[in-house]
Amino acid sequence: MSRKKIVAGNWKMNMTIDESNDLINELKEVSENNVEIKIAPSFTNLYNAISLLTNSGIEVIAQNVHSEKRGAYTGEISTEMLKSIGVNTVIIGHSERRKYFNETDTILSKKVKAAVENSLNVIFCIGEELSERESGNHFDIIKNQLTNALIDLNNIEIKNIVIAYEPVWAIGTGMSANNHQIQEMHEFIRELINKKFGNDIADNIRILYGGSVKPNNAKEIFSLNDVDGGLIGGASLNFSDFHSIINAANG
Ligand code: PGA
Repeated sequence: MSRKKIVAGNWKMNMTIDESNDLINELKEVSENNVEIKIAPSFTNLYNAISLLTNSGIEVIAQNVHSEKRGAYTGEISTEMLKSIGVNTVIIGHSERRKYFNETDTILSKKVKAAVENSLNVIFCIGEELSERESGNHFDIIKNQLTNALIDLNNIEIKNIVIAYEPVWAIGTGMSANNHQIQEMHEFIRELINKKFGNDIADNIRILYGGSVKPNNAKEIFSLNDVDGGLIGGASLNFSDFHSIINAANG
């Protein structure tokens, strides 16, 4: 089974418009046939990023979306708004959204459903806290996060989903999970998908790893059997690091 690798940069709450333009101008020429490259700038930089990256090999994606179509939800952004500027993919369920913005599995499953019903692709993030791993509950946590969010999806809708396994203790800490922990969890996730959606979908779904992916560990992480690329935070803010990570995914 050959699954095309994805390298997605999550810029989080970083980059003014000028800083964003500078980085995009460096990234613009990068294109690797064997890798899908994506960047997730802040909402204020999305439209501009899309204009600058037209006809490049890079997709501009959003970091969040609301589940309601429109209405009195001050400060929120709808699927329709994203689509109207040319965004086709959104990150949902990042651990920072769960932790700092109280996004529960119920909220996240509504967001996922709204996104796929409006033909958006989703990078859906799951990951356990350090205490959950230390107490041996990490498989249960991942199973719950995954099933709670994807429970309502049918066999067509699931094809819009990419999963990102991001152990919370590895995000922004410089302490990546080790290769054994990563492969074991990715295999477990693929098996869960297999049980619910069947072999064909499980074989084809992409499962990214996120959490302190850097130029010096990207290649070995991406070479693991069930790892189909990465969701990159800190290292995506710097051209040379992000470029090295893209190259690592290119094989
Ligand atoms: P990091 O972040 O690469 O800085 O650890 C990953 C993420 O939050 O997606």
